[in-house]
Amino acid sequence: MKKTFDRTTFTLEERFKKIGLHKTYFIRTYGCQANVRDTETIAGILEAMGFTLASSQEEADFLLFNTCAVRRSAEEHVLGEIGKLKQLKLDHPGKVFGLCGCMAQEEGVVEEIKQKYPQVDIIFGTHNLSNLPSILHEYYEQESPLIKVESTPGNIVEDLPTVRSQSFKAFINIMYGCNKFCTYCIVPYTRGRERSREKQHILDEINAFKNQGGKEIILLGQNVNAYGKDLGEEDGFTDLLRACAETGIDRIRFYTSHPRDYSSSSIDVMKEYPNIMNSLHLPVQSGSNEVLRRMARGYTVEHYKSLFDEMKEKIPSLTFTTDIIVGFPGESDEQFEETLKLAEYCKYDLAYTFIYSPREGTPAAKMEDDIPLKVKKERLQRLNELVAKYSNENNKSYLNQELIVLCEGPSKKNKKVFSGYSEENKLVNFTGEKIQAGDFVKVKITGTKSYTLDGEKII
Ligand code: SAH
Ligand code: SF4
Ligand code: F3S
Repeated sequence: MKKTFDRTTFTLEERFKKIGLHKTYFIRTYGCQANVRDTETIAGILEAMGFTLASSQEEADFLLFNTCAVRRSAEEHVLGEIGKLKQLKLDHPGKVFGLCGCMAQEEGVVEEIKQKYPQVDIIFGTHNLSNLPSILHEYYEQESPLIKVESTPGNIVEDLPTVRSQSFKAFINIMYGCNKFCTYCIVPYTRGRERSREKQHILDEINAFKNQGGKEIILLGQNVNAYGKDLGEEDGFTDLLRACAETGIDRIRFYTSHPRDYSSSSIDVMKEYPNIMNSLHLPVQSGSNEVLRRMARGYTVEHYKSLFDEMKEKIPSLTFTTDIIVGFPGESDEQFEETLKLAEYCKYDLAYTFIYSPREGTPAAKMEDDIPLKVKKERLQRLNELVAKYSNENNKSYLNQELIVLCEGPSKKNKKVFSGYSEENKLVNFTGEKIQAGDFVKVKITGTKSYTLDGEKII
């Protein structure tokens, strides 16, 4: 077996175990599930060092922003939030503010923070989470600003401590990084190249979670279908998916699939095992071949449609979601219309739609960002209206049906209403007696909205 990255195991040195005693922490997380999962690891490391969770960010002795760089708007939001901390730092100079995640991997952003946001004490990147104990140790020793960002990934570190955000649903990293280099995307630069975890480590994590009462796992990677390629495996993802299903965990999902690497065999495994949920997120980005070519996505609309047709034929109940960018450089009205046509063809259950945002250092940033913002916004609105229409129509088909929902707890707005996701990955709000977070509940659907379903527990 080819091994491109060394694998090591996390151990916490004795001298770091007391650094956090009598100190509290709070983490604000932005961006994708990779960041949510990293936050769980960071929380695990901090708690192993003696820190305890603060009740709010204002209370915390150590406040950390785990950031996303995928669009400028996400970055501006974080910078705004950090700006607000200036006074807090003046009032409480002993508090420590940190920034990590994908923004930390951008040199320009680090420079901007150094210049304009002196309240930030520590910056560390996505490649050295496991060094957090020594980073904090160094900071508390010298108490002057510290920037620790590695430009390339190091070892794959296993056995990192974790504080999971939910006890019954877990994100499981199967690979890190991305090699696709879509021309608009910053992720390959902030997360480094693809590195797969070894299958046995993944299975051990799933089995441990299952033995603690875990019900649902979500396998994570920027491009899960490429799993194992760096280990010299041909169809690694299909094999992994089968092995995960064989653990007997109740529910398995995976994000994100890439149309270029998608293999029919993984659809067959999905069909074969009832514990692999029949929902698929397959980002398309554009319905125009010319735009896809300039995005370097590596497939055509025809190929995408053929994948879609094959999946729907093999698994008719499959729910389908996607990501779409509007206003990519040079996208003409006709090319945008082609995206609308594709959305009509696929009738997505949900689409995450974005206005193109130039990212420094990516090839697309050198193309002329020539679509006026007004036009970009109009396109986004038209697309969103169309997506909502189909989402609504799809949801209506569930009326009076019985769905199995994994309850996540009372809904935020109303304590008498519970919410959770059905096998089809539909968000369901429902009422009923004797319900707890982590229960599988049979729910009869009594009403539908564009993005959620309403129902009642069946006794
Ligand atoms: N690895 C995943 C997605 C990661 S980023 C995949 O390939 O599907 C999540 C989504 O953000 C992308 O699918 C894309 O739609 C959007 N995105 C990425 N870069 C962007 C940019 N520069 N401007 C606008 N949207 C972007
Ligand atoms: Fe970005 Fe493309 Fe990789 Fe997804 S596949 S993370 S869009 S480069
Ligand atoms: Fe954002 Fe980084 Fe994820 S840029 S989308 S947090 S990989």
